[in-house]
Amino acid sequence: MPATPQKFYLTTPIYYVNARPHIGHAYTTLVADTIARRHRLMGDDTFFLTGTDEHGQKIERSAAAAGIPPQAFADEVSAAFRTLWDRMGLTYNDYIRTTDPRHKQGAQKLFADLHARGQIYLSSYTGQYSIGEEMFIEGPPGTIGPDGRPTETVTEENFFFKLSEYQEKLLDLIESDTLHIQPESRKNEVLSFLRGNVAEATEAGEVLAISASGKAYVPGALRDLSVSRSSFTWGIPVPEPAASETQEKHVIYVWLDALANYMTAMGYGSEAPEDIAKFEKYWPADLHLVGKEIIRFHCVYWPAFLLAANLPLPKAVTAHGWLLFDDSKMSKSKGNIVRTETILDAFGTLLPKPLDGPGPEFSDEHWKHEQDLFATDILRYFLLREIPFGQDGSFSFKAMITRYNADLANGYGNLVSRTLAMIKSNFDGAIPGKGDAAQNDPSGWDVIDQVHKKFERYDFSGATQDLWFFLGAVDGLISSAAPWKLAKSEDPTDKLKLETVLYAASESIRVLTALLYPILPNATAKVWLQLGLGDIEQAAANGKLKDLKWGGLQPGTKLGPLGPIFPRADKGLAQIMTDIEASKAPKSTLIDELNPTLPEHHDSNDPAAGPRTATLAEPNPGAFVAGSHAVTTERLHTSHTDAPASGPFVAAALATATPDTPQIAIDDFVKIDLRVAKITIAERIPKADKLLRLEVDLGYEQRQILSGIAEWYTPEELIGRRIVIIANLAPRKMRGLESHGMLLAASSGDNTKPVLTTFPDTEDLALGSRVR
Ligand code: ME8
Ligand code: MG
Repeated sequence: MPATPQKFYLTTPIYYVNARPHIGHAYTTLVADTIARRHRLMGDDTFFLTGTDEHGQKIERSAAAAGIPPQAFADEVSAAFRTLWDRMGLTYNDYIRTTDPRHKQGAQKLFADLHARGQIYLSSYTGQYSIGEEMFIEGPPGTIGPDGRPTETVTEENFFFKLSEYQEKLLDLIESDTLHIQPESRKNEVLSFLRGNVAEATEAGEVLAISASGKAYVPGALRDLSVSRSSFTWGIPVPEPAASETQEKHVIYVWLDALANYMTAMGYGSEAPEDIAKFEKYWPADLHLVGKEIIRFHCVYWPAFLLAANLPLPKAVTAHGWLLFDDSKMSKSKGNIVRTETILDAFGTLLPKPLDGPGPEFSDEHWKHEQDLFATDILRYFLLREIPFGQDGSFSFKAMITRYNADLANGYGNLVSRTLAMIKSNFDGAIPGKGDAAQNDPSGWDVIDQVHKKFERYDFSGATQDLWFFLGAVDGLISSAAPWKLAKSEDPTDKLKLETVLYAASESIRVLTALLYPILPNATAKVWLQLGLGDIEQAAANGKLKDLKWGGLQPGTKLGPLGPIFPRADKGLAQIMTDIEASKAPKSTLIDELNPTLPEHHDSNDPAAGPRTATLAEPNPGAFVAGSHAVTTERLHTSHTDAPASGPFVAAALATATPDTPQIAIDDFVKIDLRVAKITIAERIPKADKLLRLEVDLGYEQRQILSGIAEWYTPEELIGRRIVIIANLAPRKMRGLESHGMLLAASSGDNTKPVLTTFPDTEDLALGSRVR
């Protein structure tokens, strides 16, 4: 049963601004929104925080690669995240940015406080440093680094945090669930990290220690943590007095900076009385919601910082799994992402704009927002229903459409439409009498209690399955009572039966709708109005969705205006979404991501599409300068003929001028994002004689590129070379592998060796530099 009202403070990770959001980020944020809405309807004083993580070398480099100052770069990408959350109607209470003055102040306070408490100390570290890669490498002096050059012995001063002192304390807190980590598998992962390699230590005859709950661990397995950096400047400066201890300027380690956001957003670091009160009221967080890859930062480093600063620990960290696309984690560095905008734009079209009316509610802008909210509900439902919370789940447009049609269009939407239409025609648009009370609850079990319990465990998939089981029971009740036949009968007992079934159906819809509100806030608001119950947000705020009891719907309640809730989707929508995605500039080519002048949709101006000539459908291997996709004879796109093909585009843009090469304007040329990249991995692909699989480093990200140069180059001679790639070529699959980009090579004729465009080692050139 509902818990007693209290404060509830929940957070999402703050997202890096090195690339725009994809549905992985949307997943976390919409789960948080669902949890926040549920706590609010339960009467809790709920605070939902999200925001962006804007410092560090990765972002500094991304900004440099885009040729934009880091602050301006961060401003744009942070705004893109926020705009998306607003399009989706997500109810965050605050949006923290780590470049906010309030945050910088708070993060410096935390650092200074840890330093004052003797928890942060200056120490120097001597090791083998790869200058090219800006990283320490294990090995003796002169080891060959990943950049192919010998390392140098470097002594670096760094501030260290005494993480090693918190091993036992953290084990106790986590083993006892004082810091509650969910799911259990993630808790075990953190515990085994904290315990160290017990088996190996036992083997080596080392002395083990025993935690309060009786579990063995390797003392000293947790090492102190470096919490400052001096090799780059884009970060929060280490504050005084620590700053004066070093010669060089240091910035705070980006994770210490970032984790502090959960407190700085709540007023930590400010002396203003209202901030102090806010911090006292909301800290500690009740829930940090995170993706499973950042569990160690949240369950080891973060609680250790807090223990060291003598601050209260968060109550729970809950990790969800990954959204996978083509069986691997959707991520900006792999480029296999799906944009939420694509889903909103495509599903939004299912909700047609009504003919223009007089009021502002008919403006295009208003209607676009309605469509966004409508589509957001579909995404929320799909992700929460389809993925057992905590596990990984595959995303596909087809599955989303199938689920939508089955559960929302034919399921919930259809139940509402037919029930309310029958009430309208048979009972003059008002909820009928309760009829025969004995038949009222069609579920036969307490769905309300079940669903509450599942929501409390964040078992959204289980909760929706229960609700659809209930929905099925209501559908069954309607089919067996056949109200359309009862309506034609003159018999008064049939009239009573008609009332009974339609009351039961509409009351079931009320219960379902109230329970579904946190998942489908927009659709349930419409149904609530159609039931004649008014504004569902208000009902939530007034506790009307909380203590649901069967029979709460008052006979005689006048229905609101009826209309379709979830129109059926055509399967063709999947192709539309695939096309929108394919036509976008590559997700991680930052210049393009930030360039608002690039076309959003797949049209003839699309930089990835290339000229629409007859050669598009029939790639001609001999015609191209470039060696990557072009030399394969495989047809890459068979599903639709106007698909972008890489070869001809490159040929048109870059081929040596021949009389029939069409001329292009400089504007066309600058659309091609050519960049310096280094080949870090090269290998043959089984059963593909011509193809090599390459991994290249662009400085700001790693890419996989398939290239048809295996006949001419061995993998060994490619590794370490600095080449030029077309970075904003839309990714595509070949032999089941994704190729994202294309490398440049020149060849003097058909079937002659393509010679790679390379840069000599003597040139000092940053990876990711633009070629133009
Ligand atoms: O890690 N599936 O930021 P980030 C599910 N700035 N969730 C995904 C996902 C996927 N494929 N991809 C991303 C950072 N996410 C740090 C966090 S917090 C103090 C600092 C979600 O931009 C998921 O919540 O890499 C994951 O933990 C988060 O985005 C990582 O976002
Ligand atoms: Mg990440």
